[in-house]
Amino acid sequence: MRKIIIAGNWKMNKNLQESIDLANLVKRNLYNVEEVEAVLCPPFTSLSDVGEIVVNSNIKLGAQDCYWEKEGAFTGEVSCGMLKSVGCEYVIIGHSERRQFFGETNEIVNKKVKAALQSGLKPIVCVGEKLEERKSGKTFSVIKDHVENSLADLTREDMLKTVIAYEPVWAIGTGVNATKEQAEEVHKYIRGLLKDMYDEELADAVRIQYGGSVKPDNIKELISEPDVDGALVGGASLKADSFADIVKNSIKK
Ligand code: PGA
Repeated sequence: MRKIIIAGNWKMNKNLQESIDLANLVKRNLYNVEEVEAVLCPPFTSLSDVGEIVVNSNIKLGAQDCYWEKEGAFTGEVSCGMLKSVGCEYVIIGHSERRQFFGETNEIVNKKVKAALQSGLKPIVCVGEKLEERKSGKTFSVIKDHVENSLADLTREDMLKTVIAYEPVWAIGTGVNATKEQAEEVHKYIRGLLKDMYDEELADAVRIQYGGSVKPDNIKELISEPDVDGALVGGASLKADSFADIVKNSIKK
């Protein structure tokens, strides 16, 4: 059984006090929800404080990025060990904004994924096609490239700790989510790739989230698809009510 995982990617939003307030509200709203794994991914500057709020609760902490080196002269970067030390369990890697605005390639993503796993973090690895790629029929080839190369050379054990987030770039922050059929088609395809890369048992066990304009009122139908195991939520994770409602509405009955 794959446990549903809903992660809130706050992106570059929320100063320290706003982060503390939001985390406290989310915690209060979700105190009795055990069926779904909820993860908060605040900016680096708030990780430590949000970590203290959610420690010993049912809510997990995640970072939005990491660097692959352990330490040293890499001004501005944050290592996986540092993220662990403030209580992170997860780290988002290869978000389309990192790929688009900061030049992250599959090779860079792969280095980060390996470093995260080595230090005991669980990576949430983002893959997804751009609008023009979808329009020109390249969705599956882009997904294959992202999955095979971002996740290259992972042991079976490491792959089982990894979460994949399918985030069509055209759906991120646009208010236009993929339909449940569009999401399921790609999720199923990704599971098929995992089967080819490993085996059926592994493919059945890895969780695949959908991301892109997820809201309390569309999560129910997205999550009803057999291969959709949760969501990576941007805009709607910035308000406690909407994030908590997404988590609650994702409980598969
Ligand atoms: P969105 O962002 O929910 O605001 O579309 C999703 C994401 O970028 O992870």
